[in-house]
Amino acid sequence: MLKNFKIANKFNLLLILVFIGSILISGAALSSLFKQRAQDEVTSKAEVLIQTMSSVRDYTTDDIIPLLKPKLATSSAFIPETVAAFSAIKVFENFRKNKTYKDFFYKEAAINPTNLRDKADNFETELINSFRQEPTTKEISGFRNLPIGNAFYIARPLVIEEQSCLQCHSTPEAAPKSQLATYGTQNGFGWRLHQVIATQIIYVPASKVFESAQRSWFLVMGILFGIFAIVIVVMNLLLKRVVIKPITKMARLAQAVSTGKANSDFEQKTSDEIGILAAAFNRMKSSLEIAMKLLAQKNN
Ligand code: HEC
Repeated sequence: MLKNFKIANKFNLLLILVFIGSILISGAALSSLFKQRAQDEVTSKAEVLIQTMSSVRDYTTDDIIPLLKPKLATSSAFIPETVAAFSAIKVFENFRKNKTYKDFFYKEAAINPTNLRDKADNFETELINSFRQEPTTKEISGFRNLPIGNAFYIARPLVIEEQSCLQCHSTPEAAPKSQLATYGTQNGFGWRLHQVIATQIIYVPASKVFESAQRSWFLVMGILFGIFAIVIVVMNLLLKRVVIKPITKMARLAQAVSTGKANSDFEQKTSDEIGILAAAFNRMKSSLEIAMKLLAQKNN
């Protein structure tokens, strides 16, 4: 079938096949590259944030509690600033005041929380249970659909490592009276040493990042498409001008020469292969003319 095609058609068919092949391959490769980059972006955001929140917790435990402990013993009002969970959540609230980060969430989700705001939902409860069943797991991450859209989360287990935590989280009797006045005697007690009691979880909005990756993909594919279209048009113009037109002209003249109706020479404008062909045809034409003349003389 290909044999019956004209040069331009063969050429275009081949170009288009190469074009489709490259679009498919580069489209798939770029798509997975862009997705990977979007994934890396949300992951690194979440990692930095959860690490920051852990640092805020450590700061409260290491620097603020020793400072405020004497005050806590004498004060009748509870000082929540001495609680690591409180400071972490406060710092994150401030962080979210910036519009860019309003869809980010940080939670210290507990099954039996002191502050009911920290109550783990079903999803978070499952995470806590996984940490309990697999004590070696230090981190779980993935995607979750939230009202704000698709979010990437990193969850880490919160374990009671120190005896000092149990002062406020074992029994109401052991806890400071001022704490009971604020938080009551029902919630956040009965925790045990080395128990996973909560998960520290950060949610980073992912939809926008992935949408922007998709937009970049469309843009790059559009550019590639444009470049290929230009290449096809330019190649066709060149092919027509450099090869097809001269050859068609030559074919017509050769046709005329073969029936003895031609008196003009083959045009030799260039010194490329077409030019060489034209020169060869001219030599052949003159040889033919000489041969014809000789033949005519003989016959006379
Ligand atoms: C001085 C008493 C006190 C001590 C000591 C204390 N906590 Fe708490 N903890 C609280 C209070 C009060 C809250 C609620 C804070 C709030 O309103 O944000 C809380 C909240 C938490 C939360 C968030 C979930 C919830 O219950 O609302 C976690 C997790 C937590 N504490 C873990 C610990 C760990 C781990 C330690 C030991 C390193 C510890 N706490 C030591 C009083 C204490």
